[in-house]
Amino acid sequence: MRHARLIAMVVLSACSSARSSESPAPAPATAATPNAPAAQGPAVVPKDSVTLERERYVAEVRQQIAGKETLPASQVFKNVKTMGDVPAGRLLAVMNVGYGKSLGVSCTHCHVAGRWDSDEKTQKQTARDMSAMAARINNELLKNIPNLKGPNAIVNCTTCHRGQVKPALNLP
Ligand code: HEC
Ligand code: HEC
Repeated sequence: MRHARLIAMVVLSACSSARSSESPAPAPATAATPNAPAAQGPAVVPKDSVTLERERYVAEVRQQIAGKETLPASQVFKNVKTMGDVPAGRLLAVMNVGYGKSLGVSCTHCHVAGRWDSDEKTQKQTARDMSAMAARINNELLKNIPNLKGPNAIVNCTTCHRGQVKPALNLP
């Protein structure tokens, strides 16, 4: 389905753009000058508990789907309505970074842990609806605004949420 593929593109771009900033190269340790400021690379920030919890859940599910990471999510998972064409392993990366990190939440904001296919938390369907909204903004609205600088102007979850459940209306 064309619409589903466009939504998948949005979530994948959300994921890859977020991932590129995920693992900063550690600054090289210099034995001769242990207290010298790092010559290059950003400081390594310790991971917060929400990030660690997401990584634990991802590792759990990865173990359950071992060997099937490259199969389409529709063949590996039970209840995927929009991300069926996305490889199962990528779906987990989207969950972790594209969704969890973007909103600053753990998996349990949208899921009951372990019952990943269940839709019992309303936030899960809201996330599907948000995904459809972002796809409409990108494919129907942004595309028709002339003279934009970017060759491929898009919004994704991070554009609005920026690590928070409720997007800001004002700058601090
Ligand atoms: C912002 C909400 C949100 C967050 C946070 C989130 N998910 Fe999801 N998750 C979804 C949605 C929506 C789907 C269904 C996608 C679809 O219908 O194509 C889904 C589907 C899944 C599935 C497929 C289950 C099945 O059998 O159908 C797994 C596994 C999963 N998520 C794991 C995780 C893990 C692990 C995390 C944390 C790293 C996480 N999710 C974080 C919204 C979320
Ligand atoms: C154009 C801006 C925008 C984009 C893009 C966007 N959101 Fe949202 N999102 C909002 C707003 C506004 C709310 C409502 C916040 C409130 O409760 O006032 C919201 C609420 C949500 C909620 C409900 C949170 C809660 O627990 O109450 C979820 C889940 C969510 N967004 C997920 C996503 C996901 C996943 C994406 C990317 C696929 C996304 N959003 C993209 C603006 C956006």
